[in-house]
Amino acid sequence: ASVVQRLWRGRVSVGMLSPRLQRAMKDYMSANKHHVSYNGHRRSAQSAKELLCQMKDQARLSTVDGSEQPFSSLGWARLVPSLPLEQLHRKQGQSSYKTCAVVTSAGAILRSGLGKEIDMHDAVLRFNAAPTEGYERDVGNKTTFRIINSQILANPKHRFNTSSIYKNVTLVAWDPAPYTVNLHKWYASPDYNLFGPYVEHRKLHPDQPFYILHPSYVWRLWDVIQGNTQENIQPNPPSSGFIGILLMMALCEQVHVYEYIPSMRQTDLCHYHERYYDAACTLGAYHPLLYEKSLIQRINTGPEGDLRRKGRVTLPGFSTIDC
Ligand code: C5P
Repeated sequence: ASVVQRLWRGRVSVGMLSPRLQRAMKDYMSANKHHVSYNGHRRSAQSAKELLCQMKDQARLSTVDGSEQPFSSLGWARLVPSLPLEQLHRKQGQSSYKTCAVVTSAGAILRSGLGKEIDMHDAVLRFNAAPTEGYERDVGNKTTFRIINSQILANPKHRFNTSSIYKNVTLVAWDPAPYTVNLHKWYASPDYNLFGPYVEHRKLHPDQPFYILHPSYVWRLWDVIQGNTQENIQPNPPSSGFIGILLMMALCEQVHVYEYIPSMRQTDLCHYHERYYDAACTLGAYHPLLYEKSLIQRINTGPEGDLRRKGRVTLPGFSTIDC
């Protein structure tokens, strides 16, 4: 069976990757840049329900709110949005979003014709610099949330301050701290410096909801992946895709994810909006992407036909499951 067929069944292992990707993975393991040391369990056969309950319990949504040092001394309690991310939808008079779509940037979404279906959701999450303009038929044009990694803020090529991609949406940024989550060390040396641009943006656009995920949230998500995988996963944070999926499970009653688990359109084209080919974008080298995807497939409640035709996974929101 091909890698994709195995993913559809949720059974994956490092041996399925090409020698090049296996080598890249090993290099990241020995570098262990974020000083990860995992001491938790490794459960082999949790049911989908148990897995969902573990995610709900262990991955409580949390953002930098200015209550901890060094951010408290820097006045961040007054800098961050006054409404917590979990309560944003209340402004629109809803108890939560009923239906949400997570649209990955995978090349396989090209020629899917999914745009209309995606736009029908109450909220749509997109990633990093992924555009909608020119790709509406396949990816839709509604954007409610955008998750951005720190490179988007730090690298001038993304024109974070001026590009329309980052306007009129709720922004959620993230950057990996050391695994032990020392906020002082993180503030002093983030992966890419997002703090300066964040402060500046908050001052210029105080009415735009813009949050930074708490680095402990990111690492607790990683713990859930390693805690349900027998093999050693890459000691690097989960991909933006996995972070976004779990974020939406915390905010929505039902979540549809598009082209995270690849459809039959699977391709090495990395992003739908760039002519760049690399299987690592879909299967992972830096991020533990293959294992993330296997976990998401284990909690998928949609039929295999949705996966094949639409690359679509259906997930319940945390508020709808009784643990
Ligand atoms: O590349 P970027 O991180 O901006 O893409 C957003 C997310 O979409 C990734 O973090 C990953 O989870 C998902 N993705 C994927 N396959 C691809 C490209 C992106 O699963 N080929």
